[in-house]
Amino acid sequence: MDDSLRSIRKNEHIQLALDTYQSGGTDFDKVQLIHQSIPSINKNQINLSMTFPHFTFNHPIYINAMTGGSERASLINKHLAQIARECDIPMAVGSTHSALKDTHAESSFTVVREENPNGIIFSNVGADIGYKLAQKSIELLGANALQIHVNAPQELIMPEGDTEFEHWLNNIQEIQEHIDVPVIIKEVGFGMSAETIQKIKDIGIQYVDISGRGGTNFADIENRRRPLQDMSFLNQWGQSTVQSLLEASILGTDINLLASGGVKNPLDAIKSIVLGADAVGMSGYVLKHLEEFGVTETITHMKQFIDQLYIIANLLNASNISDLREVGYVLSPDLQSYVEQRNKA
Ligand code: FNR
Repeated sequence: MDDSLRSIRKNEHIQLALDTYQSGGTDFDKVQLIHQSIPSINKNQINLSMTFPHFTFNHPIYINAMTGGSERASLINKHLAQIARECDIPMAVGSTHSALKDTHAESSFTVVREENPNGIIFSNVGADIGYKLAQKSIELLGANALQIHVNAPQELIMPEGDTEFEHWLNNIQEIQEHIDVPVIIKEVGFGMSAETIQKIKDIGIQYVDISGRGGTNFADIENRRRPLQDMSFLNQWGQSTVQSLLEASILGTDINLLASGGVKNPLDAIKSIVLGADAVGMSGYVLKHLEEFGVTETITHMKQFIDQLYIIANLLNASNISDLREVGYVLSPDLQSYVEQRNKA
């Protein structure tokens, strides 16, 4: 694709994600955590760091993949990197394809490492890319892991989408065999089924980000980019983030489980962990706050967000991530029915 068209698309994605951002109603509202009246720990005794095989997150949240490849994207990436650095949380960049094909786009990504030399940074590519370019994407950022996004609904609805999927799985496997940082297979807001997670695990991948429905909606965004906007019937396609976490628990697999999609407050994040997530990513929420209030206020806000995770853990009498896994919860009747029907499948 033409580089200027790619850059226009990046800006359209940013603007449409902001325009369509909704603060209310997700499946997180259908999960109730059970309050404990007599905690046996103090807030300052809680440690919510999460140690993975390849790195430790000091707090169990991260800024998820968004952008790069345009002037506007470059400034956003700079600010996101400052937020990640000041809040001591990992960050992923958006797809690096533009920089892999045009060196002019590189600085919109490398700015992230410049702003945050010691942080945990994930690079990001699509499942159609060869392993040599995947390696280049990692080197561009000195990345600690590589997210490979799987976004079939987006490509199919996008007017200029690339709809050749048959080599994705082999390609992912080949990338994983040739690179020296861990691979994270990541959805973009359509969620994952137990079958998908199993397929990913079967080829030896250790990390997934189930990125479910409920937040930024790329069916809606791409539909708005279609001249006739004629595919809105797919706007609710996929599994919500809560459903995807339930899918993972039905499977009972030991894969490192990252969750994202529609996380809009600290309670949503804690609910994700209770349902099995090891850490929780946010894109739209951080982008929206940054756009409305600027970088300094967003740093303050995200620090409060982290502090509020510890407040909720205290209310649940959980002193760490493992304790959160033991927290009792009740699902709404429709979510309970989802679990029962999927358990039978
Ligand atoms: C994204 N997302 C995304 N994901 C990815 O793997 N590569 C990418 O290039 C992008 N690009 C992108 C642009 C913008 C503007 C947004 C808001 C998001 C998807 C993102 O990482 C995440 O999976 C979804 O947005 C769902 O999470 P939220 O936004 O509901 O927290």
